[in-house]
Amino acid sequence: MLNPSSKKRLLAVLVLCFLVQSIFVYRDDVDLELSMEAIEGRQIYHESACQVCHQLWGQGGFLGPDLTNAASRVDETRLVSLLTVGSGQMPAFNFNSRQIDQMKAFLNEIDRPDIGRGELRMGDPSTGTSLQEAFESAIIDLVLPTNAAAGFETFRTGLCKACHFPFQTSIVGAPDLSTTVERLSEPELVEVLTSGKPDTGMPQPVPELLPSQVDDLIAYFFWLNGHRGALEDDTRARQVDRNVNWRLLPWWEYR
Ligand code: HEC
Ligand code: HEC
Repeated sequence: MLNPSSKKRLLAVLVLCFLVQSIFVYRDDVDLELSMEAIEGRQIYHESACQVCHQLWGQGGFLGPDLTNAASRVDETRLVSLLTVGSGQMPAFNFNSRQIDQMKAFLNEIDRPDIGRGELRMGDPSTGTSLQEAFESAIIDLVLPTNAAAGFETFRTGLCKACHFPFQTSIVGAPDLSTTVERLSEPELVEVLTSGKPDTGMPQPVPELLPSQVDDLIAYFFWLNGHRGALEDDTRARQVDRNVNWRLLPWWEYR
C-alpha cells in the first residue's frame, strides 16, 4: 500500500504530467484551412443537409455515423456508392463525379487528428467563479508594486497555480503561498524556487526561473501576505455561487 505522502507525491507527478502534456499539445490554436475544392464540398454538405443525419466533431444528427474521420474508414468505391445510390437509410443523392470529388476533399481535409479533439476546461465559462479565477480577478483590480506585479504574472502564467490554491493547502499538499513568508526565510524561498522540493511534491520549476523572476515572486509573496485578509474576503465575495453545481465541474469541449 502507498502511504499518504507517497500518494500525494504520485498525485503531484500526475498533475504535472497532465499539465506539461497539455501545454505542449494545446499550445497552438489550429485553424482549419480548407482548399477551394473542400469548401465547395462543405457547401454541398450543408445544402444537402447531411448534418441532419451525421455529426462532425460530435455535432449533428444521429441517424448516421459521425463523419469527422470517415475519410480514413470509407474507401473510394463505397463513398461513390453512398453518394450516388445511398445505402439503407442513407438516401440516394445521385451526385456527379465533380460533386463526389468535392465531398471527398472536404471529408479528407477535416479528417485530421490534430483538430476536433477534446479539451478539458474547468470553471464557469461565462463569469469565472472558480476559486482561482475569483482570486486572480481580485488581484487584477488592485495596484501592485511593479516587482510584485511581475511575480504575480510569473505565478499566474506558470504551472504554479495548478498545484497552489489560494488560502488553502491543495489536494496535492501544495501550501497556501499567502503565508509562505511567515514560514520560510528569503534564502529558503530562493532555494525552493530554484531547486524545488522534488521529494515532497514541489517540482523544480521548468523552465528554470531567472534570478529576477525569483526576486519578483518573493516580492509577490510578501505583498500577498500583507494583503491576505482583505484579498481573501474579496475572493470569497467574487465567488457568487460557491455550491457545487454542474458549471463548476470539468467538462469536455470540442473546437
Ligand atoms: C436521412 C439520413 C442521412 C442523410 C441525410 C445522409 N446520410 Fe450519410 N448515412 C446515413 C446512414 C444511416 C448511414 C449508414 C449507412 C450504412 O451503413 O448502410 C450513412 C453513411 C454515410 C457514410 C459512411 C460512413 C461510414 O463510416 O461508414 C458517409 C461517408 C455518408 N453517409 C456521407 C453522407 C453525406 C456526405 C451526406 C450528405 C450529402 C449524407 N451522408 C446524408 C444517413 C444519412
Ligand atoms: C506539481 C505541483 C506543484 C507545482 C506545479 C508547484 N508547486 Fe510549489 N509546492 C508544491 C508542494 C507539494 C509544496 C510543499 C513542499 C514541501 O513543503 O515539502 C510546494 C512548496 C512551495 C513553496 C514553499 C511553500 C512553503 O510555505 O513551504 C513555494 C514558495 C512554492 N512551492 C512556490 C511555487 C511556485 C512559484 C511554483 C511555480 C513556478 C510552484 N510552486 C509550482 C507543489 C507544487
